[in-house]
Amino acid sequence: MCGIVGYIGTNDSKEILLKGLEKLEYRGYDSAGIAVVNENGVHVFKEKGRIADLRESVVAGVNANAGIGHTRWATHGPPSKRNAHPHQSASTRYTIVHNGVIENFDSLKREFMGNVDLQSDTDTEVIVQMINLFANEGLSTLEAFRKTLGLLKGSYALALLDNEDNETIYVAKNKSPLLVGLGDTFNVVASDAMAMLQVTDQFVELMDKEIVLVKKDEVTIQNLKGEIISRAPFKAELDASDIEKGTYPHYMLKEIDEQPLVIRKIVQKYQDETGKLTIDGDIVNAINQAGRIYIIAAGTSYHAGLVGKQLIEKVAKVPVEVHISSEFGYNMPLLSEKPLFIFISQSGETADSRAVLVEIKEMGYQALTITNVQGSTLSREADYTLLLHAGPEIAVASTKAYTAQIAVLAILAEVTAKSRGINLDFDLVKELGLVATAIETLCDSKEIIEQISREFLSVTRNCFFIGRAVDYYVGLEGALKLKEISYIQAEGFAGGELKHGTIALIEEGTPVIALATQESVNLSIRGNVKEVVARGANPCIISMKGLESDEDSFVIPEVHGLLTPLISVIPLQLLAYYAALHRDCDVDKPRNLAKSVTVE
Ligand code: M6R
Repeated sequence: MCGIVGYIGTNDSKEILLKGLEKLEYRGYDSAGIAVVNENGVHVFKEKGRIADLRESVVAGVNANAGIGHTRWATHGPPSKRNAHPHQSASTRYTIVHNGVIENFDSLKREFMGNVDLQSDTDTEVIVQMINLFANEGLSTLEAFRKTLGLLKGSYALALLDNEDNETIYVAKNKSPLLVGLGDTFNVVASDAMAMLQVTDQFVELMDKEIVLVKKDEVTIQNLKGEIISRAPFKAELDASDIEKGTYPHYMLKEIDEQPLVIRKIVQKYQDETGKLTIDGDIVNAINQAGRIYIIAAGTSYHAGLVGKQLIEKVAKVPVEVHISSEFGYNMPLLSEKPLFIFISQSGETADSRAVLVEIKEMGYQALTITNVQGSTLSREADYTLLLHAGPEIAVASTKAYTAQIAVLAILAEVTAKSRGINLDFDLVKELGLVATAIETLCDSKEIIEQISREFLSVTRNCFFIGRAVDYYVGLEGALKLKEISYIQAEGFAGGELKHGTIALIEEGTPVIALATQESVNLSIRGNVKEVVARGANPCIISMKGLESDEDSFVIPEVHGLLTPLISVIPLQLLAYYAALHRDCDVDKPRNLAKSVTVE
């Protein structure tokens, strides 16, 4: 949450910073700002709202070859111009941008800010005021920066300007992601390579508690003790077109449409030269030696984990528990003798999941991360990684990452099953190929789904999703998608559970979206639909070919019973998309949210 950028070189920095922030807007978008430094000192521009609002307030006449920028997701203090970054010290000598949360901010404030008239409600301002205090005591900027970092508890990615030195950006990180990008006559800083792909594809990863001095022709990484660290750059394997919307009105729609391609790419990436699905032998061994697998995830990734549990248990016969990461640390279950942890995270940066990873590593357990982002924190800190190969997912509402997560979990289940000598009566490569084709068919049915969305969701204030067995898990995801982008109150329920209380909420016309893709529960879920219809509900049944009936609103193509979530979720993603569109909601950037949730 929050995105930061920095540029130092020979060109005017403003446009590079603004373009970079536009690419980071998915990380937070309630206010934004940039600060540029030239021989006349530091100039700060900030606005409440989007980068487009900030752009209008940036004065064209100010040229500066160095600067920093920030797009915010509020933690301390409401979204406002006053709380927008960059923040400055009282002397205005120092200017800082920050992504993360300083946990001991209150005690630092009490200890150091007695005589300082704070200008914002943020934890960030305390950092820059402390640097200023220590510099006033005679420390150099680097020493003051290092001393301050030594006193901070929590997470930070920081970029600092000193208006007495327009040739350096001071950078540091702990727990929050940060990269330095390299150019011939310039260097840059960014929370995510996407932001600076406009000027370079060469990046250097930073580790926690490192400080970096970024100059236009030199980057020096050091640890908190001041020891110099050398690290080779890597090439960001991103195509600029991956991060553009192209002709699509929204990233979400583009990402929904990309799903067939993603499934095919995953199959190809996990095939060996003979076409057999394969996974690193160490990962398969770790699963085979585990007494039980614990899947840890949040939001959509948690929902993918629920489907993954079914796949791993039914195909590979290994017991699995799935836990919400923000709960696990506070309410740890009795673990099996040899637990193996699987972290599922699109971004690989989710703070709630990372907190669990840190804890279980301290306990000496092994972890596998399934993520879309190579080199992300969860990937680096786990023992093993499986990549989703879904390409950047930019819309806040996760779509292609969900299907990619399930596809990778299916492959993991299949390869593990085979390693255990379990005979399978299906060919997963072929079945995933059929899934990709089925998703294409569904993506071609947008007009029908838009019509269904109009019919059921255009005026309602609430909506229920019901299903049994794996359809229940997909219903949870459908409800999350709908509520997060259309703001319709939506809940997913196990079909049989409504009558234990929630059915009291069914009124005349309440939409109930029921999934019927599983033969074993087809009749019982239809029975649950009758129960809500008897109380006035407006039912929208989404069934699978072979199980359909005349009353159904939409029928999805038939795929292997274990893989139905990969396609039954598509109409739900599209229903949510059109509901948000019809309500004039900001589809890609829903209120109060951010793509990468890096605070606990
Ligand atoms: O990056 P992660 O997969 O760890 O993110 C987890 C959740 O924050 C994320 O899935 C969230 O629920 C999405 N906005 C849902 O669309």
